[in-house]
Amino acid sequence: MTSKPPVCDYEGSDYRTRFWKGQGRDYEDQVERIALRRLMPPNGKTLIDIGAGFGRLADEYDGYDRIVLFDYSRSLLLEAREGLGADPRFLYVAGDWYHMPFVDGLFETMVQVRTIHHAADVPALFQQLARIAHPAGSYVLEFASKHHLKAIIRYWLKRQSWSPFLPEPVEFVALNFDFHPRWIGRQLEAVGFSPQRMLTVSHFRLPLLKRLIPTRILVALDRMAQLTGDLWQLTPSVFVGSGSPPTGKAAEDGRFFACPDCGTPLGDLEDSHLICSRASCGKRYSFSDGVYNFKEPV
Ligand SMILES: C[S@@+](CC[C@H](N)C(=O)[O-])C[C@H]1O[C@@H](n2cnc3c(N)ncnc32)[C@H](O)[C@@H]1O
Repeated sequence: MTSKPPVCDYEGSDYRTRFWKGQGRDYEDQVERIALRRLMPPNGKTLIDIGAGFGRLADEYDGYDRIVLFDYSRSLLLEAREGLGADPRFLYVAGDWYHMPFVDGLFETMVQVRTIHHAADVPALFQQLARIAHPAGSYVLEFASKHHLKAIIRYWLKRQSWSPFLPEPVEFVALNFDFHPRWIGRQLEAVGFSPQRMLTVSHFRLPLLKRLIPTRILVALDRMAQLTGDLWQLTPSVFVGSGSPPTGKAAEDGRFFACPDCGTPLGDLEDSHLICSRASCGKRYSFSDGVYNFKEPV
């Protein structure tokens, strides 16, 4: 493998119960789903959710024949699998998004929500995504924006040292980044994606508002406000829908996984392993408890 940027490791994490279940985030969950439905083609052959975690958004992918939940954390994928049961359309794949274990041109739809804030090397990540994207596909990305109203006010009041107006990412805690919408757009374009539509999301993510106003009203207001996303972006969360780079070739039928180390397409499982057939590589990747593990070769 070439570059190995650091990974924010969620292995063994209680992310679902600590952050979502009963934690007062129904508003955020619902408005993110609205944005996703607006940008994602409702059906297709292949979809990948990158950094899918415990599969929070998996029920949005009903229109797809083959759905990959991809995450670095094997334990979160096991949780997703437990929740989704034996639906054969789902594949659970553990790996690092800087070394995607898939052949070129595979995915018609790629979704990435609430994860890119952990990416220390966004250009390297986007390069991988451009490679595995189907040439007629689309990519829906949600990112944490540094250019939100609260950050702007804090900056003007001199209670925050970094400028929300400068394009470069800000790392506010180790391996947690906020991004400027313009910078994200430029990085997408640099690898061939064509950003088409932005939606601003979570306009009313303020504890006081969430306490005083019923969730359904905040969600209805956010649904409308999202549509201003192409004009200005002042929310903590922004969705961008992009067309895939049109230049590559679609994956051949029957090809799916590729060795994350050397890129050789992988064949079928042999004794619960996928084995790279390139003589100079020969790496083996395990499949156990329903999860493909590309984090480390066996
Ligand atoms: C905050 S969680 C979001 C989970 C899910 N997208 C959601 O919205 O509920 C971030 C996820 O990104 C995953 N992640 C972080 N770095 C990764 C990497 N380099 N490769 C694959 N997954 C990664 C983590 O394991 C974690 O599950």
